[in-house]
Amino acid sequence: MQLVLASGNSGKIREFRQLLEGEIQPFSDLLGAFEIVEDGDTFAANALIKARTIYERLGEKNPSIDYLVISDDSGISLPILNGAPGIYSARYAGEGATAKDNLYKLIQTVKEKKLQAAPAYYTAAIAIVSKYGEYVVHGWMYGDVVDETRGDKGFGYDPIFIPDGHNKTLAELGDDVKAGISHRGKALALAKPIINMLRNK
Ligand code: IMP
Repeated sequence: MQLVLASGNSGKIREFRQLLEGEIQPFSDLLGAFEIVEDGDTFAANALIKARTIYERLGEKNPSIDYLVISDDSGISLPILNGAPGIYSARYAGEGATAKDNLYKLIQTVKEKKLQAAPAYYTAAIAIVSKYGEYVVHGWMYGDVVDETRGDKGFGYDPIFIPDGHNKTLAELGDDVKAGISHRGKALALAKPIINMLRNK
């Protein structure tokens, strides 16, 4: 069975490779890059849309190969913003916004609330699609966002996110620390036994 990641996000690809010890190929290596319309209203719905789309396209292209497609839909939520940006994290500053645009928009929004820090949490929904059916698992990481960027590791909102129990941002802590505490790491810990069970069927 061939493991394929239904994501073009280089930060996610790097983290999945680290968490799964390298054995996953990004879908763009097999299908080229293309946009998937994520119009679900939950992280789980969007993760399933991505994994199903890639699974179907791979099946059309190579019907003789058994694929196991894994996707991740994730984002950051602030209770003081009623859960925003949430499922809209990738386009918080508008369609086509860069990760930096989104990051600075969130800093600006927190500042407009006259706050220097605010509680926040990351959610990751990981979907697994194969000929044996569909699975979705979740993971969360809680902490605070601050109103200035610190550090240059990680991706997305990591330069402003301080996980509970730490006093540095994820962009200061780096991938090794993040892997042990992250929403994606936790969701993947639940996904791993499912992936192994499906691969050994
Ligand atoms: P998706 O690729 O549609 O799931 O969008 C995920 C969005 O949430 C992107 O804007 C990411 O920057 C952000 N995001 C998700 N996970 C993380 C993370 O671990 N660190 C920083 N930003 C993240």
